[in-house]
Formats: sequence, C-alpha cells, structure tokens
Amino acid sequence: MPVESTMELPGKGLIDRFNRRLNYLRLSITDRCNLRCTYCVPDVFFPKLPHAEILRYEEILRIVKIAVRLGISKVRVTGGEPLVRKGVYAFLKALGGIEGLEDISLTTNGVLLAEKIERILDAGIHRINVSLDTLNRNKYEKITGFDRFDAVWRGIRSALEAGFYPIKLNVVVIRGLNEDELIDFARLSMKEPFFIRFIEYMPMGTHCMNIRQQLLAPEILHTLEKMGPLEPILRNKNDGPAERYRFAGAAGEIGLIRPISHHFCHDCNRLRLTASGRLRVCLLSSVQEDLKGPMRSGASDADIGRIMAQAVLRKPHEHGLGCMKNCDVLDPMSAIGG
Ligand code: 5AD
Ligand code: SF4
Repeated sequence: MPVESTMELPGKGLIDRFNRRLNYLRLSITDRCNLRCTYCVPDVFFPKLPHAEILRYEEILRIVKIAVRLGISKVRVTGGEPLVRKGVYAFLKALGGIEGLEDISLTTNGVLLAEKIERILDAGIHRINVSLDTLNRNKYEKITGFDRFDAVWRGIRSALEAGFYPIKLNVVVIRGLNEDELIDFARLSMKEPFFIRFIEYMPMGTHCMNIRQQLLAPEILHTLEKMGPLEPILRNKNDGPAERYRFAGAAGEIGLIRPISHHFCHDCNRLRLTASGRLRVCLLSSVQEDLKGPMRSGASDADIGRIMAQAVLRKPHEHGLGCMKNCDVLDPMSAIGG
C-alpha cells in the first residue's frame, strides 16, 4: 500500500516560478463525446484512448485528494463529455465528499442534462457550464453533427428550474458560423439569468481553421454595444479568465474569454488532469507529467505530490498563441478538457 503522510508532501503547496499559486484543477474524465463539434474534432484521425489507459475513478479521486492537500480548492469536471462516462454520478458524489474541496463544477454539452439533473444536484453540484454555440436548431446540427438542440435546451431549462446558479453558456465565436447570433445571445442574457460567455476560438495542433474565421473580442464587443452600453462587472478573485459585463437591467451577464486578443496567463491558477492521467500545466503547451504510470507502479502520495510540484515548476510564463496554428499542442481538446 502507498504510504500516506502529509508531512512528506511538498510544504508550500503548488506555486510556480512566477509566483502563481495553483488552486484550480480541471479534470477531464473521458475523451469520449456524444457530439462532434467542428472546431473540436481533430483534422486528422485521432484514436480514442483504450479503456485501460483512462484513469479509473478511484485514481482520479486519489489525485484530487493529494492535490487538495497541496492547495487545490476548486475542481471542474470536464471531458470529452463527462456525462457519457459510466458511473459518473457516484464519482461526482465521491468528489463532493473530499474534505477541503470548496467548489465543484461541471462542464457539459447538455445533451444528457435534462434526464440527469436530479442526480447531478444530488451529487452536490450547483454550478454548470453548458457548451452552446447557437440558438438555432439547424445550425446546431451543422456545428455538432447531431440534432440535439431541443434536448440541450430542455437540459438548460431544467437546470434553471432546479436552481443551478450560475448557469454559464459557452459560445465559441466563429466568423461565418455564429457571428450573426451575438445579438440573440445578448438578448437572452437580458431576459434570463444566464451567463453567456463568448470564447475566442483557439487553434490547436490537431485542429486549425482558416484565420479569417477567427473573430476576436474587440469585434464581439463592438457588435454587442449596438444593443446598449455594457457595464463592466468587477471580477472577484475566484473568477476564471472571463471579463464580465452586463447590460443595464439584464437578468444575466456577458463574459468574454479572450485567450488570443488578451493573454490572461499572468494570473492563471489552473492545472489540468487529462483522461489519460497526465498533469498538464497549461492548456496551450504540451508540458505534462504522467501521474498514472507512477501511481500504477506503487508510488506513494508523497511521490505523486512531488511530481505535481515539479510539473508546476515547468508551467510556462505565457502561451504563444495569437498566430493561427499552435503546433505545440498535439492532443485534441476532447482529451484535455478545454
Ligand atoms: N477553441 C475555443 N474553445 C473551445 N472549446 C472546445 N474547443 C475549443 C477551441 N478550439 C470549448 C468548448 C467548451 C469548452 C470547454 O471549450 O466549447 O465549451
Ligand atoms: Fe463539442 Fe465539447 Fe464534444 Fe468537443 S468535447 S465535440 S466541444 S461537445
């Protein structure tokens, strides 16, 4: 049995060379997905992970427990699509039982949300992000490959009725695809308490669109401001990278996530655990440290903690994205978790 000892874990927690304290861990629990969004699916054939290569739930829970002892207080469960993995609700519940974890949230494409909302709630999760790039049923099928808009919308409504807050809708903005819906999404934020988050498309090594399709935040803001002045909302320290705004009197919010037009690396507090058991220190860099191998060969909690602390020291100052192709990242988004 691995030796468990708090004393042996790296003392000062997870702090990188640039004095950033890492307290947020994103968990990709599967690389499988029930959709095939055009901007996410790799350009080239990318094999799915064999089952044995995917971290078991108890392995993920063990890593989270170690991470919590090193200062992680917030986790987000992602995928692929996390709700397609068998046993996910029991896993979410077990996650909720980890002492010291202050915040657990979920990113889903929403396809299975309506039927599973009670189980998610029962696991103690109240905050969700739903990927929704269009409000148009036909376009939804064009973007994701499946006619699931109605199911997703039902899921979002049932989350609202069940009292989830906030419900964030992630919209990857792509010129020629959904740029004409910015105003529709903005109107939705006026009427309903949704946090609409416009995300700049990030080119990954496995997927790359025409540069002309990229639509950046200044242009998004310019379009939105035609609806009326946007009031900036002061960010609090637990906010992610989104710049937050609200239209006067609106029920919801607008957020802008701008990895391309404005690097937010200087205050990045994130780490990512991939479905294959690697700790990635930056979404847009290939620097990663394997935790699964050592764990399966009997490493102690202290060993795992040390590997994590060493990985953190390799976290780059910032990513080089801005140019169109990011050749450094060779894994598809569905295996890293966005
Ligand atoms: N660029 C920006 N966002 C992306 N997502 C997936 N692929 C990309 C990309 N290439 C988003 C999804 C999801 C979130 C986790 O990441 O829409 O909402
Ligand atoms: Fe779409 Fe998310 Fe599935 Fe990728 S992982 S295909 S972005 S729903």
